[in-house]
Amino acid sequence: MASTTTADPHDPAATQSLTPARRRFVSVVLGAIGAAIAAIVGVPLAAFFALPALRRAERRWLEVGSIAEFAEGQIAKVLAKPLAAQVWPYETRQVALYVLNQGGGKFALYHIHCTHVGCPVRWNAPAGRFFSPCHGGVFDRDGRVVAGPPPRPLDRYEYKVDKGVLYAGRVYRVNEKLEFAGWHHA
Ligand code: FES
Repeated sequence: MASTTTADPHDPAATQSLTPARRRFVSVVLGAIGAAIAAIVGVPLAAFFALPALRRAERRWLEVGSIAEFAEGQIAKVLAKPLAAQVWPYETRQVALYVLNQGGGKFALYHIHCTHVGCPVRWNAPAGRFFSPCHGGVFDRDGRVVAGPPPRPLDRYEYKVDKGVLYAGRVYRVNEKLEFAGWHHA
């Protein structure tokens, strides 16, 4: 009865006895196995390190609403929703902010907290002013201080429009000319 033997690819003597074609085949197979192991271990590891950063970036944006909801020239109070999925028992945290549709695809998104000591301002449409309930702070429709102790205009959100939906990002300060003057939580 004929006996058959197979070469052990891990045995150097056996490997040297392989034909060149067979050696190439063995090295291709070993390379493929190594690549598969690297992928199996490496992909979850990369995801483990990359996901928190992606989630932070995702959490940075709040969904404000369809731009069609905001009439040009009007200021509306909105409860914006974070994009990150909320898991029971956590409630979806909503963030109140004011939106001014300035026309031409431009918006001003105002932080609701007065720049004095943080009381939530209220928009009074007939007066055309934001009023702080605490110390007489008053702001115009562009957020500029017109009365009281607030040291600077209302802070604003960076924003973006994607597929007709308005999103609010980080809060920033503006100077008297309404120019960017630094991130709120720098
Ligand atoms: S908190 Fe608004 S004026 Fe003081």
